[in-house]
Amino acid sequence: MNKEFARTLVTCALPYANGPVHIGHLAGVYVPADIYVRYLRMRGREVLYVCGSDEHGVPITIKARQQGCTPQDIVDRYHAIIDESFKGFGINFDIYGRTSSKVHEKNASEFFRKLYDEGKFVTRESEQYYDPEAGTFLADRYIVGTCPKCGAEGAYGDQCEKCGSTLSPEELINPKSKLSGAEPIKKKTTHWYLPLQDYEQWLREWILEGHKEWRPNVYGQVKSWLDGGLQPRAVTRDLEWGVPVPVEGAEGKVLYVWFDAPIGYISNTQELLPDSWEKWWKSPDTKLVHFIGKDNIVFHCIVFPSMLKAYGDGYVLPENVPANEFLNLEGQKISTSRGWAVWAHEYLRDFPGKADVLRYVLTANAPETKDNDFSWKDFQTRNNSELVAIFGNFVNRAVVLTHKYFGGRVPEAGELQDVDREALGELPALRASLEANIEGYHFREALKDAMSIARVGNKYISDCEPWKVAKEDMGRCATILNVSLQICASLAVAFAPFTPFACEKLSAMLRISPVWDDLARTDVMPAGHEIGPAELLFAKVEDDAIEAQMARLNAIRAEQEAAAAAEAAKVVAPQKEEVSFDSFEAMDIRTATVLEAERVPKTDKLLKLTIDTGIDKRVIVSGIAEYYAPEQMVGKQICILANLAPRTIRGIESKGMILMARQGDGKMRFITPAEALANGAQIG
Ligand code: 2FM
Ligand code: ZN
Repeated sequence: MNKEFARTLVTCALPYANGPVHIGHLAGVYVPADIYVRYLRMRGREVLYVCGSDEHGVPITIKARQQGCTPQDIVDRYHAIIDESFKGFGINFDIYGRTSSKVHEKNASEFFRKLYDEGKFVTRESEQYYDPEAGTFLADRYIVGTCPKCGAEGAYGDQCEKCGSTLSPEELINPKSKLSGAEPIKKKTTHWYLPLQDYEQWLREWILEGHKEWRPNVYGQVKSWLDGGLQPRAVTRDLEWGVPVPVEGAEGKVLYVWFDAPIGYISNTQELLPDSWEKWWKSPDTKLVHFIGKDNIVFHCIVFPSMLKAYGDGYVLPENVPANEFLNLEGQKISTSRGWAVWAHEYLRDFPGKADVLRYVLTANAPETKDNDFSWKDFQTRNNSELVAIFGNFVNRAVVLTHKYFGGRVPEAGELQDVDREALGELPALRASLEANIEGYHFREALKDAMSIARVGNKYISDCEPWKVAKEDMGRCATILNVSLQICASLAVAFAPFTPFACEKLSAMLRISPVWDDLARTDVMPAGHEIGPAELLFAKVEDDAIEAQMARLNAIRAEQEAAAAAEAAKVVAPQKEEVSFDSFEAMDIRTATVLEAERVPKTDKLLKLTIDTGIDKRVIVSGIAEYYAPEQMVGKQICILANLAPRTIRGIESKGMILMARQGDGKMRFITPAEALANGAQIG
């Protein structure tokens, strides 16, 4: 699609206001959107940048109940934290609204009402779980019981957090209401549904035919939904928290959160621009781009567009939906409930002045085409070896040497040599590539282009060695520093979408206010232009800062492992096949005492035990060295199977077997009588 648009409307998924945002959110949605918006603005395009908190939905009501406060208290708290975090990372939306606002309630309500009046919904009666004691219908999350798949207690009506299975409340064994503990009953209820199947053909033409350029992960998900056949989708819920359904007979019902949230993009635009919002939403000259994570694809590519289509009135459809995949943390899926996350507000607290570093690392590792991993080690390496050692180091050398040799004034360039022309000659192609990559939503690649410019500069100054040249040829030194400073100016532009704080600092240091077209120019700073004192753009991240972050994560990992081990220990092996009494009687089990114990040389697992069986003294080789040291065994009374056919193990004849109990996690202990008995006492 190469249509020219007059303006670009960029939306970012509205984060749920039931927790802070973390690096997964930043990498998936907000950092790429911010790069895109900053770039477009630098290119002089008209852009509107809209986001806000998603303040409805069941998890918010659950959190409020857990904390003994109202849902409004919860969303007020997290709305403020999230808003603050975005600002801390330089993500400055034109509006960061809220779906609990009056404007939104009115707007979402009117949106529903128009579709309702025009007969765009169908109603359906169904049976849903109801809490007879609390007198309310129960959302799936409000029903808990035993997981039918793994047997864990406390599985939710929609998912078992233990084994990860997706469930329906009907599948739970022994379901209970989270509200009152009562057993839920089935009760009839009526809801409104958007018949998505009516829009299927239109969606096929619009996306599958018309937007083959969309990212493969987005296009593929849409295709598989459409190929699977669309179904009517409920747009209302029996719940108290949300936008009330604005029709008679719908008391106790609210709009489903995924119906009202995307309308929030429009409401927030209205709130910001009450008189001109339609220009952004209803003009074919608007390019709408939704930045989202992969779990939001169906809502932004199928449900919301169908809602807008049903509404009519010329609403624009997204020109692209560059959804990212997920970011993992240190090899594990980010989990807010387990605390396995790096929270945006905590990062800003722990790494003051380093918002750019995380923006940089999350872009360099952006999960654009597949899930990707964030690790603290990689964070440190990228900061120290790329931002500090290449970008920062180059700029610092150019600025410091300009002060040292030319009193802080840009020296005049003499005749250019090949090496100068080659360095400068690389910039136009890198600029073109960077632009094409950003416009094509390939932010990782675009960042590589920016870093390539820094590499060109760093290599140039290292190869030319102006500090040595200064000793004999000040004219040549002037040329080298002039060229270096022009490259620095290009960096102030190229990196601005990615590391805006550092670029502001760099521009201030160079005393320039560069525009996009200064990128790759060779005369941004005229000779004689005075620059400011040198300041470091980036500082090293030291080991102790990384160790502190890892210590927190390791503590969580240790807790998880201990909990998993405790669970595994409880797993009981199923009963073996029946045996006859005679078979049991055939086994000669008796008490015995260990007289001597020693490790079997060159093995980790085997002990050679000399035991007194009451019948004889004999040797048993046993695989218990993993659990007991030799000295722990000497003198212990044990139980043995005395008539097991002898075997030779590691050249030692072993006569019999020591009885051991093994629990689910593999831990083993020998069996000893409740009180000391004579050796050879028969068991059975
Ligand atoms: O997945 C989420 O975090 C949702 N709160 C995103 C909503 S996006 C939009 F449609 F509002
Ligand atoms: Zn389970």
